[in-house]
Amino acid sequence: MKTLVTGAAGFIGSHLVQKLLASGREVIGVDSFLDNYPRSFKDGNLALFAGAKNFTFIPGDLLNLDLKTLLRDVEVVFHLAGQPGVRSSWGKEFNRYTENNIMATQLLLEAAKEVKPAKFVYASTSSVYGDTDDLPMREEGGTRPVSPYGATKLAAEHLCHLYCKAFGVPTVALRFFTVYGPRQRPDMFFHIFMRALLRGDEVPLYDDGEQTRDFTYCGDIIDGLLGAAAYPGQGEVFNLGGGSQVSLLHAIALAEKVSGRTAKLKRFDRQKGDVRHTAARLDLARSKLGYAPKVGLEEGLAAEWQWICSLKD
Ligand code: NAD
Ligand code: UGA
Repeated sequence: MKTLVTGAAGFIGSHLVQKLLASGREVIGVDSFLDNYPRSFKDGNLALFAGAKNFTFIPGDLLNLDLKTLLRDVEVVFHLAGQPGVRSSWGKEFNRYTENNIMATQLLLEAAKEVKPAKFVYASTSSVYGDTDDLPMREEGGTRPVSPYGATKLAAEHLCHLYCKAFGVPTVALRFFTVYGPRQRPDMFFHIFMRALLRGDEVPLYDDGEQTRDFTYCGDIIDGLLGAAAYPGQGEVFNLGGGSQVSLLHAIALAEKVSGRTAKLKRFDRQKGDVRHTAARLDLARSKLGYAPKVGLEEGLAAEWQWICSLKD
């Protein structure tokens, strides 16, 4: 039996493919090479699997592919394909978010309804919660996204739940909290920050730096994804956080420490779509998925710094 990873050329998808192949699984990866960031990063991610005999890559868009054929003989679906990024989801861009986050998920669920994989794991996000003082964020707490991105990811999460209830598609949704580490997307903070450190450029700092995030190392997210695939339940939602909430200024100080360099920060107003604080309650993921984040922020940032330093340009 095979495992399907959508968004296989992306940041988190490529880490998942790597882990699945290392454990001997037969993997099908799909990716449309969306132009949300330069193609060279996605090609670099896929190059890691060049020649892997258990890996089949299908370059294609979930919106156009024959998904029932794609799901044939697939035991587990990891649905990571999507249009990420909170601040860029306003205005004309919104159409891309509805297509790649809502429409693509609905089409995949329709196919899963027919083909019935053993598990359908969906990559949701902490952005579904929005701004709240009710911290840490609990799965059963309120959801009021503050970005159009969050609204589309929440809509897709609802679709997963209702295809489970109506048709028995065994979905599990995982709400990732700001993921970082090697191969992080170039529109995300640590990537922007470390590149600027390397070049001696200024770094845009939005808000006052006292906003907090429950930063989560990519390897821990992969463990959570695998835990969800093995989980016997369905129709549920779990937070996957890093296990600690830190301010952006604290994270910046750690990144300066691991790099041995000092940042030139340039302050800007808080951006529309950004939440002020995120923090994940992890009790459910710990008890039901066996989730236990292992990589602390300093160690994870050191790994990302090493990767940034290895990039050619
Ligand atoms: P990414 O952009 O690196 O990866 C997503 C991949 O999906 C891209 O390579 C893109 O080309 C592909 N894709 C998009 N639409 C597609 C379509 N219609 N058909 C086929 N492929 C398509 O992003 P990422 O950071 O790796 O995020 C992966 C998933 O996790 C996304 O769904 C994102 O919303 C979610 N998520 C990410 C974070 C984070 O901090 N990185 C946090 C919460 C949730
Ligand atoms: C991240 C991902 O980009 C989303 O796809 C994901 O869904 C979300 O996490 C989540 O957890 O739900 P974000 O928290 O905004 O979103 O992650 P970063 O882009 O790394 O930003 C972290 C913080 O740095 C934010 O407060 C942001 O305002 C700030 N930032 C970002 C800057 O100060 N300067 C920048 O140039 C970029």
